[in-house]
Amino acid sequence: MKVLFAVSELAPWVKTGGLGDVAAALPPALEAAGAEVRVLVPRYPAFTAAFPEARYLAHFAGLGGQFPAANLFEAQAPSGQTLWLIDCPPLFHRFGNPYHGPEGHDWLDNPLRFGLLSRIAARLASRASPLDWRPDILHCHDWQTGLAPYYLKSREGEGAASVMTIHNLAFQGVFSRAVMEEIALGDEDWHIDGVEYYGHLSFLKAGLRHADLITTVSPTYAREIQTDAEGMGMAGLLRLRADRLVGILNGIDTAVWNPALDAHLAVRYDRDHLEAKAENKRALQREMGLVERDDAPLFGIVSRLTYQKGLDLVAAIADALVELPAQLAVLGSGEKPLEAAFRAAAARHPGQIAVKIGYDEPLAHRIEAGADIFLMPSRFEPCGLNQMYSLAYGTPPLVRATGGLADTVVNYSEAGLMEGSANGFVCEDATPEAILGTLRWAASLWQDKPRWRQLQRNAMSRDFSWAGPARQYLELYRRLRPQ
Ligand code: ADP
Ligand code: GLC
Repeated sequence: MKVLFAVSELAPWVKTGGLGDVAAALPPALEAAGAEVRVLVPRYPAFTAAFPEARYLAHFAGLGGQFPAANLFEAQAPSGQTLWLIDCPPLFHRFGNPYHGPEGHDWLDNPLRFGLLSRIAARLASRASPLDWRPDILHCHDWQTGLAPYYLKSREGEGAASVMTIHNLAFQGVFSRAVMEEIALGDEDWHIDGVEYYGHLSFLKAGLRHADLITTVSPTYAREIQTDAEGMGMAGLLRLRADRLVGILNGIDTAVWNPALDAHLAVRYDRDHLEAKAENKRALQREMGLVERDDAPLFGIVSRLTYQKGLDLVAAIADALVELPAQLAVLGSGEKPLEAAFRAAAARHPGQIAVKIGYDEPLAHRIEAGADIFLMPSRFEPCGLNQMYSLAYGTPPLVRATGGLADTVVNYSEAGLMEGSANGFVCEDATPEAILGTLRWAASLWQDKPRWRQLQRNAMSRDFSWAGPARQYLELYRRLRPQ
């Protein structure tokens, strides 16, 4: 089974969120399960620097519209994964975030940039590919590659079967009709079964309409997005294609997120040596300027600071959290008012609330290990990786009942604790009061050391590796291309 995996970010080189993690870990897991995968990504400067020995493979020109010519290079990631890098300096030689400039404004030529990624993906998946290696499956991810299934069907005809995975329906790649010509689309594509979406062009809509199969990253999210309340304008289309829509829970990279191997931690530990976790808590308290106390639980947050993550609800109850008593360690960046709200909370409660605004991978590991409880009260969450990292680190998560959070976190109950299923705390409502109530409950249970230890062991015993999900994807591929 040959799979072309087209994606716009790839950890550790270029990552804005969970998509980059998935792109790094799922392809090697597919290969371990017997598939042969090529990961197609734009050659951002980080790739040019990381793979100076990349080998030239092919040249693309005359793709239509205003697509510049591009070259394809091949490189080997340390995981052994083969990467195909699209070299097009005018579009991709930009440092930092792959989607926007240093001021935080989306690059104006994003339709052309990700149009090119989609266009080349479609070509490589077709009979017209300049390469001998032809995929059975073209696997696309999020809006940035949404046009690929459409180009494949409308421009190339014969080729691979296509799969479109939704990592986050909130990002739909919506642009004005005026960009159509640039990306080699015309009036014949402008209709409800083409690329048109409420009077605009949507990359994601095109992919969802034309992919042979749609997947998303958890079973609960797969159901939620078919409802008008949570379908973000796409519910009708998704209901229409319900027989082609499947939810597969993400895995985690257990080589990177494993407390027994994690070089970022003060002390490594496993489920039989959970006492060592206390040392990580003290180290985190020191690192972040918190008072070193062990009589109160430390809540941890690692997140993009956006509406999706529901962290405004936590900022609103920060004072009450300190009163519990409890401490809070926050790592994140994003919306400026939310960054300011957390900074202000830290200024009001020095030593009890610590905030680091920014992106810091090693600190993310130390918060997962050093916190007592991981906070993730998302309003919606397609899958969420952080709550799985925290489970793996014996740091029970406190989450909202939505999407992948509902599929991975089992709310505390006495019976659940004893049978081994309960592994955290689940709050139903997205209100500050509901979250505070759940925080209070979790903080009081934390005082009950034997029960808490059992909860941590439950959390650490579930297998979140990619092996299971990879098998499920392979099964889907086989449904599309029986071999
Ligand atoms: P999303 O993709 O919606 O942001 P996920 O939970 O799927 O949410 O993935 C988030 C990923 O980004 C995790 O790997 C998390 O550790 C990482 N992350 C988010 N914010 C930060 C940050 N400020 N510093 C370091 N890592 C972060
Ligand atoms: C998106 C979602 C997140 C998911 C990630 C990887 O960023 O917001 O829930 O875990 O994609 O699929």
